[in-house]
Amino acid sequence: MASNMTFTMIKPTAVKNGHIGAILNKINEGGFKIVALKLTKLSAEKAGEFYAVHKERPFYGELVEFMSSGPIIAAVLQKDNAVEDFRTLIGATNPADAAEGTIRALYATSIGENAVHGSDSDENALIEANFHFSGTDMFV
Ligand code: RTP
Ligand code: MG
Repeated sequence: MASNMTFTMIKPTAVKNGHIGAILNKINEGGFKIVALKLTKLSAEKAGEFYAVHKERPFYGELVEFMSSGPIIAAVLQKDNAVEDFRTLIGATNPADAAEGTIRALYATSIGENAVHGSDSDENALIEANFHFSGTDMFV
């Protein structure tokens, strides 16, 4: 996978609050092509593995519990400069700091339950996409 890909999840609260359609619409309007998509649920073990990079952080337990608390949307997105442009579209981690009109400003309820995940590098985008999808389920 090249540098024009990123990986996202719509997190449990945003799914529960009925924001899947609105968030996918923002993603499309932002110029991203959805090349893989599913509604799924992470086990605590899988959520812990996905966020293993944060395991020493104080919020890790809470994060794993939250991310395994209900269904999520997982998706792979394609666009030039995808990783950086998607992080601009979603806004800051803490919705209180997220720019107006960003997905987190619109749909996040707190820093923990912040509506969406976005990969932080090309390398992690590839790892994260492969964590959730087999090659035959990615239409790149
Ligand atoms: P993400 O990985 O989900 O796209 O978020 P991010 O890069 O903006 O933020 P990151 O530092 O990678 O943190 C991962 C997720 O952990 C939760 N978090 N909670 N309570 C807290 O202080 C705190 N800090 C981070 C958030 O759900 C964040 O998205
Ligand atoms: Mg992150």
